[in-house]
Amino acid sequence: KPPIYILAIESSCDDTAAAVLENNKVLSNIVARQSIHDEYGGVVPELASRAHQQNIVPVIDVALKKANITKSQLSGIAFTQGPGLMGSLLVGSSFAKSMAMALNIPLMAVHHMHAHVLAHFIDEEGFDKPVFPFLAMTISGGHTQIIKVKSFFEMEIIGETTDDAVGEAFDKSAKILGLPYPGGPLIDKYAQEGNPKAFQFTKPKVDGLNFSFSGLKTQILYFVQKNVALNPNFIEENRNDICASIQHTIIQIIMDKLKMAVAETGMTQIAIGGGVSANSGIRNTLKEAEAKYGWKTFVPKFEYTTDNAAMIGIVGYHKFLENQFNDASVVSKARIEF
Ligand code: KG4
Ligand code: ZN
Repeated sequence: KPPIYILAIESSCDDTAAAVLENNKVLSNIVARQSIHDEYGGVVPELASRAHQQNIVPVIDVALKKANITKSQLSGIAFTQGPGLMGSLLVGSSFAKSMAMALNIPLMAVHHMHAHVLAHFIDEEGFDKPVFPFLAMTISGGHTQIIKVKSFFEMEIIGETTDDAVGEAFDKSAKILGLPYPGGPLIDKYAQEGNPKAFQFTKPKVDGLNFSFSGLKTQILYFVQKNVALNPNFIEENRNDICASIQHTIIQIIMDKLKMAVAETGMTQIAIGGGVSANSGIRNTLKEAEAKYGWKTFVPKFEYTTDNAAMIGIVGYHKFLENQFNDASVVSKARIEF
């Protein structure tokens, strides 16, 4: 059987990404990060869209060159249909559509969140693949979901955030501490040197498997304001302990819900994805849970946790195998049903 070569394009938010896959193996995975947003403390949609337009051709070019694949060898093109920022999505989808049309090859529209879940099916040495059915948890700057994954194309959200995403909880806490955006990785870094029990924050009471993080953010704001009023150097003197305590609280919230999800579904394989799965505290806690609760946990290779095109490519590959193609009338969607 000749190999299938998929070019994948991801442009849902502020990263322009392209990847080339040979079957379920990644040949190249290129991400152009847009640093233009850093000075604004968050993603500016109009700037993101413009930067995608500048980046998309060179990023695809580099992805093909690095994979050592020519356009004429491609079997199909996969792109992110949504959810995401409309102006950003449109750059990727327009490009994918025109290229598929020009090359006369199939086009596959991919759900960004399905891709975070299915990134675990990329063939990588040293990384096991979960076996259906399993539980997935997507934790990123835009999403916090617990998902029952029955097959490649049958998934059900059984819990999600009612307000902020986990990544936002990290980033907004970091902002309160005066750390630059995105603050998640910095909280992780300082937390590694701090005492997670130094300060106590209360966990929100949320029904079922849903999450809420906005209360925690407010709690941290008042806690910092109160202490800084007493000691202007409070943050500098306690940075590691504050970060460790915030991270500990967030991990406890996540673990409580995961334990509940396991109890409800009887599923003990847990696959995580999204930018926050890079967090070392979460990774360690999940590893401990394997011995403690008999779970099997899956964390993808770092480059497949944050937004990337390889994860779009693996979904594209499985769609290709099942002849799930789209024509050029497929529309980008800022919000999209699971
Ligand atoms: O998946 P992602 O790259 O983009 C979205 O789709 O949102 O996730 C980005 C989020 C940001 O909120 C960032 O602060 C967070 O992931 N993040 C982390 C860590 N690395 C990235 N949060 C905590 N600890 C980390 N090590
Ligand atoms: Zn994402």
